[in-house]
Amino acid sequence: MNIGIIFGGDSHESEVSKNSGLAISQACKSLGYQTTNYLLETNSIDNEINSLKKHDFVFIALHGTFGEDGALQKILEQNNIKYNGSDQFASKKCFNKSFCKEIAINDGIITPDFYVVESNICNDNIGFSSSKYVIKPNSQGSSVGFKVIDNYEKINEAIDNALDFDSKVLIEEYVGGAEITVPILGDEVLPVIEIIPKKGFYDYSSKYTKGMSEYVCPADIGTKLTSEIKDTAQRIHQLLGCEVYSRVDFKIYNDEVFFLEINTLPGMTETSLFPMSANKHGYSFKDLIDKIIKLSQKK
Ligand SMILES: Nc1ncnc2c1ncn2[C@@H]1O[C@H](COP(=O)(O)OP(=O)(O)O)[C@@H](O)[C@H]1O
Ligand SMILES: [Mg+2]
Repeated sequence: MNIGIIFGGDSHESEVSKNSGLAISQACKSLGYQTTNYLLETNSIDNEINSLKKHDFVFIALHGTFGEDGALQKILEQNNIKYNGSDQFASKKCFNKSFCKEIAINDGIITPDFYVVESNICNDNIGFSSSKYVIKPNSQGSSVGFKVIDNYEKINEAIDNALDFDSKVLIEEYVGGAEITVPILGDEVLPVIEIIPKKGFYDYSSKYTKGMSEYVCPADIGTKLTSEIKDTAQRIHQLLGCEVYSRVDFKIYNDEVFFLEINTLPGMTETSLFPMSANKHGYSFKDLIDKIIKLSQKK
């Protein structure tokens, strides 16, 4: 089999994508597949499309805009090119955090209280019970444009900062407690991971600097919460029409599970969360990539 790996691009997550792409490419090679690397300079495959069509399968290793929001998926579908993971529609929905929260709420799933704003004229008296807020772009990943504020006066500054990354900004009630992520692969929910950032919040640097976070897998949250959070993750995956794999982010506060967001193209470097959990489940990085390819071909 001949596989094209797409990575890079010019989203805010292009550096992470390069690492995912190179790791996936290595894995494909060691699985005996022929590989071609497509390191994109921009968020476009206009120059690559004819070459991409010659492959049996394309592995999207992009994160963020273009690669994860359904735009690239749509182009590949129009050209009958097989690729990994969710289709254009599910990808688009999942990249819209407030949309996912609405879907979750309609199904009885708890998510932090929130508002969506498109400018900083945030004069409404926000009536959350918490005195801390999380301000983040509605459609981005890797915690870019993310700020926690504990003083309402700083809200406009934080909104302006997030508006640099997206036209819609999510103002969320801050939820303390444990940071949990749940990977889903095919019909299986893989071991749950607890993330413990060494200082402050799970922001971009805690995510990508070695040693800035600790991980517990399987998370030490007891059997009841483990099965509840796994069940909730799977429901969200299904409600949004996700295929093959995804990773769902949560907080657990006072034994209550809060849904934060779902990622359709989670990080895939050898040290990323999804491969860490797959490893506990008995799948090497190579096995995981092969599983994703095989499940995606059957879509
Ligand atoms: N409402 C919230 N309360 C507490 N922490 C939050 C909240 N929203 C986000 N966070 C923190 O910020 C991180 C990034 O937010 P998330 O919604 O997962 O977006 P993304 O990973 O796409 O940047 C989370 O992993 C969590 O640590
Ligand atoms: Mg996240």
